Amino acid sequence: MKSFPIDQLRVEYLRESHNISFFSCSNGDLNDFLKSDAKKSQEDLISRTYLCLWQDSILGYLTLVTDTIEVKLIEKDDGVDGYPYPRYPSIKIARLAVEERFEGCGIGRFLLFWATGKVYQLSNEVGCRYITLDSKRESLGFYEKFGFKVIMKYASRNFPPMYLNMYPIVLQMRQEDSESVA
Ligand SMILES: CC(C)(COP(=O)(O)OP(=O)(O)OC[C@H]1O[C@@H](n2cnc3c(N)ncnc32)[C@H](O)[C@@H]1OP(=O)(O)O)[C@@H](O)C(=O)NCCC(=O)NCCS
Repeated sequence: MKSFPIDQLRVEYLRESHNISFFSCSNGDLNDFLKSDAKKSQEDLISRTYLCLWQDSILGYLTLVTDTIEVKLIEKDDGVDGYPYPRYPSIKIARLAVEERFEGCGIGRFLLFWATGKVYQLSNEVGCRYITLDSKRESLGFYEKFGFKVIMKYASRNFPPMYLNMYPIVLQMRQEDSESVA
C-alpha cells in the first residue's frame, strides 16, 4: 500500500514535541527503543534519532551513533594502505525501522540514502570512512542491496555486523557537487 509521494518525505531529528506513541514497526524492541529510550539517549548525547515524516505521520526512524571498526575486519580492497592504527572511524546506524503498514514502499531506502548523505556531510567535517550496523538476520538482504558487506568473522552472530565503505561514495558525491557548482 502506497499513499504518500516519496518526494514529500522529510527527516527531522527527534524532539519533545513529536508524538511517537502511534509508531508501530514489526519489531517490538525497535518500537520500545523509540518510545522509551530514544529521547533520554539523545539528551545524554549517546545517540541521535531522526524521524521520517510525511505530513504529521511518522513513517520510520533511524538512530545514529559514532563508532569504530577494527582494521583487520575490513576487506583489503576497502581498507587504507599504510594506516597505522588498529581501528577506523565510522558512523553506526544503531536503529532503523519503518512503520509496518508502509514496509516495501521505499521508506527504508529513503532513510538509508538520507544516512549516506548525512555521513557525506560529516565526512567533510570529521573523519568517518564507514557506515556500520548490526543487522537483523531477516534484513541482511536489504542492506546488501545497498552495498553493505557482512563482516565474515562474525557472520554467524544473531545480529551480524556489516559495513559500507563510504570512500568511493564520498568521492562520487564530491564530484557531483563540484559539477553542480560549475
Ligand atoms: C528492513 C526495513 C528497514 C526495510 O525498509 P522498507 O521500507 O520496507 O524497504 P524498501 O521498501 O525501501 O525496500 C528497498 C529495497 O530493499 C528490498 N528489501 C526490503 N526489505 C528487505 C529484506 N528484509 N530483505 C531483502 N530485501 C529487502 C526491497 O524489496 C526493495 O528492493 P527493490 O529496490 O528491488 O524494489 C523494514 O522492513 C523494517 O523496518 N523492518 C522491521 C525492522 C527491521 O528489521 N529493521 C532493520 C534493523 S537491522
